[in-house]
Amino acid sequence: MSEKKQETSELLTKAAETLKRELAKLDDKRAILRSPTLTGLCSQLRTLPQEERAAFGKALNDLKSEVAGWVDASQDDVKLQPIDVTAPFDVNTPANHKPSLLPARDGSKHPLMVELEYMIDIAYRMGFAIEESRLIDDDYHMFESLNFPEGHPARDDYDTFMTTDGLIAPAHTSTMQNRVLKKYAGNLESGNPIAVLVPDRVFRNEDLDVTHEHTFYQFEGVYVDKGITVGNLIATLQALLSSYFGQALKAKIQPFYFPFTEPSFEFAIERPESLRKGDTEADMWLELLGCGMIHPNVLKAAGIDPAVYTGFAWGGGIERLVMMKYGIEDIRHFESGKLDFMRQFS
Ligand code: DAH
Repeated sequence: MSEKKQETSELLTKAAETLKRELAKLDDKRAILRSPTLTGLCSQLRTLPQEERAAFGKALNDLKSEVAGWVDASQDDVKLQPIDVTAPFDVNTPANHKPSLLPARDGSKHPLMVELEYMIDIAYRMGFAIEESRLIDDDYHMFESLNFPEGHPARDDYDTFMTTDGLIAPAHTSTMQNRVLKKYAGNLESGNPIAVLVPDRVFRNEDLDVTHEHTFYQFEGVYVDKGITVGNLIATLQALLSSYFGQALKAKIQPFYFPFTEPSFEFAIERPESLRKGDTEADMWLELLGCGMIHPNVLKAAGIDPAVYTGFAWGGGIERLVMMKYGIEDIRHFESGKLDFMRQFS
């Protein structure tokens, strides 16, 4: 071996040893291909006299192939590990290449949750207990206990999703009425009212557009005691909504139909001035939610005697309130997961 060749060989053997040590320390083994130990040799090649280049270039290429082989071998080990496809990044990504997880300080609450919590706070201060609904329920709670027997035409207004074994993604928070009436029936015996707010997610089989979503939130109220009248219903909703909008609001009810209330109403509030477009009477009022006096059959289904107790209930969508409050033009933004949308509220 010529002296020059000997020198090159020694240089590259040394480099190979250095590279091996560097490789052991790297999380991302591919980074070794960008190591200064290698790139330095490449630069060195360019400075060599013409006659030495070919030999050095070949030896350097051999070294590069060898190093690439090490990387491949290490990747094979990595490939054998299972991948969690639900992780926000490939869990096998080496630590120094993982995207940083969203730090809590950069996040913010979803505008819908902020408003929901605000509504819950107001109702809680008014004496309402808070109960969550459920995301899957049965025919009895969704319909039967609410006075929609099988085949009742009003069931068509609550077209939602069903599992093959007959469970239902609830189309309204009223699906909780029977449960909360039973759970709090003891209040009546001790001379206290049943007062419960049920805010939660509901589902409908809708054609989607700017005002219709398949998934949205409702807030349901249930109130039962001796001697409760429509007057109590109006006053309670008026107080709740005036508090929510931060201004005294006129309210009115107009007749409607729900199987679970008798009589049933649509509750309208005076449109906050900032949201009025014209001066017509029709433009003055905003129909916000459905409500009524709880049907005697609904009370009976929960074991409450309608001859002794009466009550009212309501149910309305939260998105509508939030859209009005912030001038949001499309309900689909809420469930879109778009950061551009959410950042406007952070
Ligand atoms: N569940 C009704 C709906 O989603 C709203 C509703 C109306 C709820 C009257 C009630 C009520 O509790 O009494 O359309």
